[in-house]
Amino acid sequence: MSRLVIVSNRIPGKTPAAGGLAVALKKTLAARDGFWFGWSGAFAETPQKQAKFETVDGLRIGSVDLTRADHQGYYAGFSNSILWPAFHLRLDLTDIQSHWYEGYRRVNAQFADALVPHLRPDDIIWVHDYHLIPLATELRRRKVGNRIGFYLHIPFPTPDALSAIPNHEDLLKDLVAYDLVGFQAQRDLAAFNEFGVHEEMYRAAGGTPFHLETGDTVFEAFPIGSDPEAFARLATSPNAQKMYRKVERAMNGRGVILGVDRLDYSKGLPQRIAAYEKLLENNASLRRAVHMIQIAPPSRDTIREYQVISDELDSAVGRVTGRFAEPDWLPITYVKRTYSQSSLAGLYRLARVGLVTPLRDGMNLVAHEYIAAQNPENPGVLVLSRFAGAAEIFHEALIVNPFDADETAEAMRRAVIMPLEERKERWHSLMDTARAYSVDNWADSFLAALAGDAPSSGDTA
Ligand code: G6P
Repeated sequence: MSRLVIVSNRIPGKTPAAGGLAVALKKTLAARDGFWFGWSGAFAETPQKQAKFETVDGLRIGSVDLTRADHQGYYAGFSNSILWPAFHLRLDLTDIQSHWYEGYRRVNAQFADALVPHLRPDDIIWVHDYHLIPLATELRRRKVGNRIGFYLHIPFPTPDALSAIPNHEDLLKDLVAYDLVGFQAQRDLAAFNEFGVHEEMYRAAGGTPFHLETGDTVFEAFPIGSDPEAFARLATSPNAQKMYRKVERAMNGRGVILGVDRLDYSKGLPQRIAAYEKLLENNASLRRAVHMIQIAPPSRDTIREYQVISDELDSAVGRVTGRFAEPDWLPITYVKRTYSQSSLAGLYRLARVGLVTPLRDGMNLVAHEYIAAQNPENPGVLVLSRFAGAAEIFHEALIVNPFDADETAEAMRRAVIMPLEERKERWHSLMDTARAYSVDNWADSFLAALAGDAPSSGDTA
């Protein structure tokens, strides 16, 4: 079997805490004797072209330091102030500074320089996420003829939003330098295909269209998943049980409505709090019977829009507290910090309602993990945004439009009072789906397609 080389901005073992993806890919990597490559997390005075290698938990990891200026242009600038908001259809939140693009391309070129000396001719290279779209172009320039795949973890934008990104034509050409481009959802594949239609309409209106030759590149949706069996075990581990019991005691029989999200404007947090406010407003009888817990680890907090969303959330939580709290009951607990996966798993298991209501999201693995963590004898209910990739597969969740506070509040109410039989029925099919879309299946099918294998019949005997 060919070696596998994984490339992503973040490398495992560095902040933030390794999620399911890192764990799953580590397994795949160990089986294929390759290495993981990315940014070291450290800064250097001058751009480094040589990778440093280390072995962490039996895994080979190569990395380079970046200069502060390059990191600013590449990460906080082009990746997270232009690509991230535009791909999430928030053009209003983009901050377009044209010089950032140079930093973005420079870092991708630097990654290529550092990688090339360590590649063997039959290595399979798998590049992850929007930070590294130009990497295949840079590798091809350096005569790398290997199979190279790209997986986009976030949604693909609609044609309008895409065309608002400076140099988007180059980015599209960059995608064609890959052999395989994987998206999270059918929605994303459709958005990509629609760009051609959009350009034809532009031509019809008298504009000069951009034509993309896709050549042999294959574009396909590969919905990512979790490791539901492992997560289910984690949810009953000693650390998870500790959290479960502690919070259960504090809740004193009240139904927990839980949200866990990076503190990001794509997650729809102020809208979620407003929906919870509606729930309390419209259902006086629920007021002392429920409690919302929102966990939101801070993210990308050097970027202005992340400071704005953080302030907005502070104020939304304050508003609901001031309006509904009583001296002996608080409607909401808001926690702005990171927890271990095991503590979160315990909380998921305890929560009667799991709220996953992003305004737009690639997949959303919290939805997968919430399902996996449930007690089969007394499962909770997933309230899921129709704009998460997860909504394409989890049909038995209560699907909501997160922009509609009334609809979301009504789904929360239904979830809180849902009879046990219905909860079990829904949960069983959700869990079957989570198993079918496991992260192992995801990695296997992407890598099989990248290697050019025909789809497997499922018979491995
Ligand atoms: C999303 C992106 C990842 C990113 C993660 C955390 O899930 O798809 O590429 O690593 O957010 O964001 P950060 O900017 O802290 O890496």
